[in-house]
Amino acid sequence: MNMSRTILVNEAIRFGVPEGEIILDAALSQGVVLPHQCRGASCGMCKARVTQGTVDNGWSLGLAISDQEIAEGFCLMCQARPLSEEVHLRTVQPIPGGEGSAVQSFEARVLCNTPLTPRVRRLVLQASEPLRFEAQAGAYVELALPGLSPHRRYSLATVPSSTGLIELLVARHPGGAASGHIHDLLQPGDSLNGWQLRTIHEDEAVFHAPGHGDRTLPLP
Ligand code: FES
Repeated sequence: MNMSRTILVNEAIRFGVPEGEIILDAALSQGVVLPHQCRGASCGMCKARVTQGTVDNGWSLGLAISDQEIAEGFCLMCQARPLSEEVHLRTVQPIPGGEGSAVQSFEARVLCNTPLTPRVRRLVLQASEPLRFEAQAGAYVELALPGLSPHRRYSLATVPSSTGLIELLVARHPGGAASGHIHDLLQPGDSLNGWQLRTIHEDEAVFHAPGHGDRTLPLP
């Protein structure tokens, strides 16, 4: 793939972006985890200031970024495409896994993947390292499944143990690539990369719909 644009985030993380591709999409496809949540221009987690170069800000309803912020040089990395050969960004939220971050990335191994009902499977994972967070309502993991983008999010079914055990309940959705992969292909012993676990921030709320999991949204 021809990475015709270069992005430097927080003077520390450098990666390429093919012409016309969205910055966050390119980062995640290369295993570079940047702050984000909705990927749909509504949460503002991916907001960053452009300190060098220019971007096409793309689509926005104005929920996560104001016209004034755009005029001041901010963009949403989930919508913006680089226009200049090199673009430097400074994120508003900390980089996942870095200091002050509520996100932990880790690898995990499948311990158990068993059916509870014809539609729901219980998936138990063993993280490769101890979990460094206190689980709160709304905590979720983001799963990087082979060949699937964007990553899929699943709410935690139980409070994770300090030893790194994580339990999820995964419902099969008709035609769903991720739930289909988990139901049909994922086996005990399989390894998965690029997992994230994130808890809610103080300025967010969790909405729970029985049978449909939790949804974390920014508070106004
Ligand atoms: S990830 Fe939510 S606005 Fe970009």
